Amino acid sequence: MDQRGIHGEWASRWIFILAATGSAVGLGNIWKFPYMTGENGGGAFVLVYLICIALIGIPVMMAEVLIGRRGRMSPINSMRYVTKEAGLPRGWIGIGWMGVVAGLMIMAFYSVVAGWALRYVWTTGTGSLTGMEAAAIGEQFSALLADPKQLFLWHSVFALMTATVVALGVERGLGSAAKLMMPLLFASLIILVIYGMFHGDFASGFHFLFDFEVKRLTWDSVLKALGHAFFTLSLGMGAIMAYGAYMPANASIGKTIITVGILDTVVALTAGLAIFPLVFANPPLQPSAGPGLLFVSLPIAFSSMPFGDIFGTIFFVLITLAAWTSSVSLIEPGVAWMVESKKFRRAPATFLLTGISWLLGITCVLSFNALAEFKPWFLLFKTPFDFLDFMTSQLMLPLGGLFIAVFVGWFMNKQIVERELNAEGHALFDAWHFVVKFISPVLVGLVMVLTLIDSF
Ligand code: PHE
Repeated sequence: MDQRGIHGEWASRWIFILAATGSAVGLGNIWKFPYMTGENGGGAFVLVYLICIALIGIPVMMAEVLIGRRGRMSPINSMRYVTKEAGLPRGWIGIGWMGVVAGLMIMAFYSVVAGWALRYVWTTGTGSLTGMEAAAIGEQFSALLADPKQLFLWHSVFALMTATVVALGVERGLGSAAKLMMPLLFASLIILVIYGMFHGDFASGFHFLFDFEVKRLTWDSVLKALGHAFFTLSLGMGAIMAYGAYMPANASIGKTIITVGILDTVVALTAGLAIFPLVFANPPLQPSAGPGLLFVSLPIAFSSMPFGDIFGTIFFVLITLAAWTSSVSLIEPGVAWMVESKKFRRAPATFLLTGISWLLGITCVLSFNALAEFKPWFLLFKTPFDFLDFMTSQLMLPLGGLFIAVFVGWFMNKQIVERELNAEGHALFDAWHFVVKFISPVLVGLVMVLTLIDSF
């Protein structure tokens, strides 16, 4: 018996690809991937990240989508459906719950960073970058972080933008947002890479990204690479499961998800190729500059290239759009559940959940100024911003992914899985099933345990 959903469906396989890519491609690719690579030694980190995407990310993403499409509801209720179908204890539904909570936690800091991008639309748009020196560009960013009022303003604007799209619903809100943005974003990244070839230190940037030096690798950075593979593919918290629920029944999950995974990876690597040549050509900048890396490196290019203001403005608009199509998928799982199970209308559910994230986000705004030294033991000696990022990317998402893989690999009826993937008799099905059953869970479990041991 097949389920039907109440929230509507994507008009075609392509719209699903666009929406899922919209969710996957975001600040994770353009902001987080470059600065994490910079902090964790370059090429070695990139290689581990690529292995995690191929061996864990893409197979688990297929598992997540297929649960969503089987249940045709919010992650919580889809988990309820497949748990019942498999005759398992209700505890498995916890995967859905953890996802909703993780989504709100991610949204709290995501919205603050997206706020930085919004602020830079303004900075570049008013032409104030033109001719600015690298050092002054760095100071400008520090000044922004030191100003809670500014951060709060842009954080709030972004939260409101997200809520508006989620409130509009699947077809009107989400489907149309991604169509224009993806190609444009990619094109402007390419322009920046070309700029870096001529005006940056392209060779150093390239070597930094792709030279593999084992000695730079620690368990901690392996866990970070693993966590980032989940974060960047929107995995382990139900976002992709929720989108899977709106996927047409006849679309092939395998091909679709591989496309999404490749697009996401290409965007991240291109962002790295755009940023690092500029970093190495401007000595005060360091690859390990941390979360500000994007905002202190690219404006250097915009300040000196012809029409840099216009191009810079377009670029930050595109980053904002990319963040926007991701943030809606952080809120969607919870909203879909409230509509299904708590008889909420979409709009109030959306504003309630986004409101919770927005409030939590205020602690992230203050993490860069008033609360910068507030690193109590109950936040594991981190600022609220770092704590939320750590808890979600490095714990909740990998754990969610681990449970999803175990559920699909060990407990779901293999015939149902095969049919849901439209993979009857497909040569690769058994290989995929083996990976999801053994390889992905063992790798995720191993990395988490070794990191724990390593940290004592
Ligand atoms: N994948 C998004 C990005 O890379 C972030 C995200 C994580 C979105 C988890 C949804 C769920 O920016």
